[in-house]
Amino acid sequence: MRLSRYFLPVLKENPAEAQIVSHRLMLRAGMIKQQAAGIYSWLPLGFRVLRRIEQIVHEEQIRAGHIPLLMPTLQPADLWRESGRYDDYGQEMLRIKDRHDRDMLYGPTNEEMITDIFRSHVSSYKDLPLTLYHIQWKFRDEVRPRFGVMRGREFLMKDGYNFDLTRDDALHAYNRHMVSYLRTYERMGLTAIPMRAASGPIGGDNTHEFLVLASTGESEVFYDARVPDLKLGDRVVDYDDRAQVAAICEEFTRAYARTDETHDEALFNQIPEDRRRVGRGIEVGQIFYFGTKYSEAMGATVVTPDGSRVPVEMGSHGIGVSRLLGALIEANHDEKGIIWPEGVTPFHCGIVNLKQGDTAADAACAGLYKALVAKGLDPLYDDRDERAGAKFATMDLIGLPWRITVGPRGLANGVVELTSRRTGLSEEMSPEAAVDRVAQIYAGV
Ligand SMILES: Nc1ncnc2c1ncn2[C@@H]1O[C@H](COP(=O)(O)OP(=O)(O)O)[C@@H](O)[C@H]1O
Ligand SMILES: [Mg+2]
Repeated sequence: MRLSRYFLPVLKENPAEAQIVSHRLMLRAGMIKQQAAGIYSWLPLGFRVLRRIEQIVHEEQIRAGHIPLLMPTLQPADLWRESGRYDDYGQEMLRIKDRHDRDMLYGPTNEEMITDIFRSHVSSYKDLPLTLYHIQWKFRDEVRPRFGVMRGREFLMKDGYNFDLTRDDALHAYNRHMVSYLRTYERMGLTAIPMRAASGPIGGDNTHEFLVLASTGESEVFYDARVPDLKLGDRVVDYDDRAQVAAICEEFTRAYARTDETHDEALFNQIPEDRRRVGRGIEVGQIFYFGTKYSEAMGATVVTPDGSRVPVEMGSHGIGVSRLLGALIEANHDEKGIIWPEGVTPFHCGIVNLKQGDTAADAACAGLYKALVAKGLDPLYDDRDERAGAKFATMDLIGLPWRITVGPRGLANGVVELTSRRTGLSEEMSPEAAVDRVAQIYAGV
């Protein structure tokens, strides 16, 4: 993409309405525009990052054996009357009437609808296990939408639902989700800690939230200092291997990590004092085992091997896809702007032409652009007739992890400059070497 042809409406001034850095930077970098409280348009740069996050979520869900589909945003109220949640859900549910005076709603989540799909088509244990998921817009009429995409009213969520014959099978599905979520966040360059969450009316220990540590987070968190250092790394996971998947969950949940909702001071104080940490976190996902709550209420049953009929065992599992943009920026920025991790960056590399119109500089930039594209990369070429300082400021604000700077003086010596956004360090090298280096960096992502 050439910047002169792109749509990147950056703001010079700090928007007054933004209280936290991620919201401020998303507005300044021209990623989103608010259309109503908690409702945003995704401008091209923001949309690119959103799509990359979605792609990672899809890849890791499919790797875990989960199957994508797509349910609508609008739902008939009758499904929610069956589960009893139409009256219970309260004011967060946006209720709509169609022209025939039928009650509809903009889905805040999809347990009822997925259970309806299941009961219409599945009736035998032979079709289990089954996990279906989608990435779809949700609406929750939050009392206080705030912090930009972090707490919106309309937001993009990945929500998945497992259907299993036995409780053990459903707990394996729960574990599979935990591991696939850990991998998903790690690929984005984020550390998200699974923390035991409030169990609610279901009882048991079977819900975890995933929290990204950040001073602006809405939850207070208490954890053992060893927990954030845990990494999946590049170990190979066989999602059908129950013992392996359970062992990884045990490894990541053994040490103390809880939010204020479930915090237990006595247990916390058993950690050696120098390892006790109190901080704040952003919830970027939650997994939940709820057994037969919806299948019983809605008659989703399967025939067992011995011929009897039982309600199917279920759980639901969500990732805050649009919220992740905010969380990523909270965790990756400096005073100049965003610093995208390579896994989610909107463009892989920026090209800055220090002297637009200079024949050698223009040709070198065009050559770099072509060579990067040939390597399967997406460069953003700042070909505007602007001062170097302004070009650098834009690149720093939008946070591309790598920048190649091209000027007549360097070219006279056969070199361009490759700069890391994160460290600020620059290195001179030939244009070919710069392309190879950038390609090599992304080959490992
Ligand atoms: N209002 C919102 N704006 C943006 N993301 C949200 C919002 N509400 C929930 N999410 C994201 O969706 C994920 C799954 O939602 P869920 O756990 O059902 O929500 P909640 O924690 O509000 O009960 C959450 O972990 C969070 O990342
Ligand atoms: Mg939650």
